[in-house]
Amino acid sequence: MFLASLMALAMAASTASAQDIVYDSIHNVTPIVGTWSSGSQHVIPGPGFANPAQEAFTYPNTTGVGYSFSDDGWYELARYRFASNASEPNCIIGTVIWAHGHYALLGNGSIVLTPVGDGYQQVQAPCAATSNFVQNYNFTELMQSWRIFQDPTFGPKLHLFQFDGSPVAPLFQVSPDPNMLPKQTLRNVTATVVTVTSDGLITQETLTSRKRKRSGAPEMQRPMGAVVGLVTLAMLSAVVL
Ligand SMILES: *[C@@H]1O[C@H](CO)[C@@H](O)[C@H](O)[C@H]1NC(C)=O
Ligand SMILES: *[C@@H]1O[C@H](CO)[C@@H](O)[C@H](O)[C@H]1NC(C)=O
Ligand SMILES: *[C@@H]1O[C@H](CO)[C@@H](O)[C@H](O)[C@H]1NC(C)=O
Ligand SMILES: *[C@@H]1O[C@H](CO)[C@@H](O)[C@H](O)[C@H]1NC(C)=O
Ligand SMILES: *[C@@H]1O[C@H](CO)[C@@H](O)[C@H](O)[C@H]1NC(C)=O
Repeated sequence: MFLASLMALAMAASTASAQDIVYDSIHNVTPIVGTWSSGSQHVIPGPGFANPAQEAFTYPNTTGVGYSFSDDGWYELARYRFASNASEPNCIIGTVIWAHGHYALLGNGSIVLTPVGDGYQQVQAPCAATSNFVQNYNFTELMQSWRIFQDPTFGPKLHLFQFDGSPVAPLFQVSPDPNMLPKQTLRNVTATVVTVTSDGLITQETLTSRKRKRSGAPEMQRPMGAVVGLVTLAMLSAVVL
């Protein structure tokens, strides 16, 4: 139901005009075009993070999230995080996500990010039946609102508020240019195998991921200090989303 309404939203998005966006010193001090990254700014979209053809990642040295926005309507997402399993706090679940697609700045101040469908996510869940796998990641995101402030030390700082109003970690401008992979479909997503584990964590695993398992999937190393900002997942479905 939620995804369906997001889809309808994405359709409506194309009719909105970016001219409604007000750029001023208390709201959006600079256009959103560029490369943005949270925290210590190591999670940066582009070729240094993801290799979609290989379904591979270069794991950043710290966790965080990064977004790039181009002036012709493309965005790219990079996210790397560790979360603890609520029922088993020692089972640290790592997820790393790459996706890209089209974004629309709506006249009412929201942003809709619609992926083209070639995104992927690696999930490392040491306590689950299948502990390390890659699956397709194709979720439309609604950002209710966004603001860019001028940080006296770090310069332009982007605040994104998600569909439920919860904030994405503040994003610092790494570059006024968008760091991103080619603006086209970069991965064949048709080859997937359905795998359902006893805890219901997996619905689909990519064929590449399944094949790679025989030679050992790459291990994510938890960066130092990652535990400090750990999100506790109440439900496993939060990982898959
Ligand atoms: C992580 O840090 C090490 C040591 O500083 C560096 O050699 C490496 O390139 C960094 N990795 C990434 C992905 O930035
Ligand atoms: C902007 O419009 C979209 C589509 O109608 C809606 O989903 C979103 O909640 C609106 N944003 C705000 C801030 O009202
Ligand atoms: C990705 O999601 C979009 C929007 O929901 C949908 O139109 C598209 O068919 C999906 N692509 C794939 C490969 O599943
Ligand atoms: C979380 O812990 C429970 C209880 O040990 C386990 O059954 C489940 O598979 C774990 N989930 C993940 C994703 O590690
Ligand atoms: C994608 O993979 C499927 C299944 O392996 C294959 O049949 C298809 O030809 C591939 N498509 C492209 C464009 O490579």
